Amino acid sequence: MPRPYVICHMIPSLDGRIVTAKWGMAKRGYDAYERTHKALAYDAWIIGRVSMAPYAGKSRIPKRKDDAQMPRTDFVAPDARAPYAIGIDPSGKLAWKVNNVEGEHAITVLTEAVSDDYLAFLRARGVSYVFGGRRAIDLPRVLEKLRKLFGIRRLALEGGGKINGHFAKADLIDEMSVIVAPVLDGSAGTPTLIDIPGGRQTVRALKLLSCESLGGDLVWLRYKVRR
Ligand SMILES: NC(=O)c1ccc[n+]([C@@H]2O[C@H](COP(=O)([O-])OP(=O)(O)OC[C@H]3O[C@@H](n4cnc5c(N)ncnc54)[C@H](OP(=O)(O)O)[C@@H]3O)[C@@H](O)[C@H]2O)c1
Repeated sequence: MPRPYVICHMIPSLDGRIVTAKWGMAKRGYDAYERTHKALAYDAWIIGRVSMAPYAGKSRIPKRKDDAQMPRTDFVAPDARAPYAIGIDPSGKLAWKVNNVEGEHAITVLTEAVSDDYLAFLRARGVSYVFGGRRAIDLPRVLEKLRKLFGIRRLALEGGGKINGHFAKADLIDEMSVIVAPVLDGSAGTPTLIDIPGGRQTVRALKLLSCESLGGDLVWLRYKVRR
């Protein structure tokens, strides 16, 4: 079954940290990230639950009046169309305020362990969802579903470190697109470009595709993952 081509697009410090909040990064840095993100010509972008929380916003998950079980089947909302904004949220913590992120239709990746109330809430909000497994997320299967159900061929993987680590562990990253921010962060124990769960990683060699200076001391590096 075909899966989307995955490009991991990030803006780390020179030493690989990714929490930008304390960098005092000029607007130019954020603008460069957004501009290059658009240049990837993606059908969808995907981020982890922690990174998606500020975009999803906050709302109340209502308790249903009836107790009929909700089916654990994938849901494609009637107005779903590309480009898509996807979050991986195994236990259903994102309280979506609307069903899009800046106009891009929201899809969430869940496990079957989420509550019936939460599924009813997503349907009522019009947020599409796919199941990634019973208790854990099977990423290769999720990518196949995203291709089949939504026609996604080019997927931008945009952090944080944990989701990138899950993709790297499953060897699902095809390309790296990195804007190096002109900062040395140095904080130990904070998210980095790729944080592999369980620590162990298959090392992957990279082939340089392009190297571009973006002004403001920013450099955009693109690498293909060698297989
Ligand atoms: N500089 C940059 O380019 C950049 C880009 C993006 C984000 N960030 C920063 O990165 C930080 C967050 O990074 P993070 O590593 O802590 O979190 P993250 O990757 O955004 O989210 C991690 C969470 O997503 C869920 N998840 C993702 N993939 C999964 C998988 N395959 N299987 C199971 N669960 C999965 C889990 O949710 P549960 O915990 O609910 O199980 C996991 O704890 C934020 O500060 C954000 O601002 C920086």
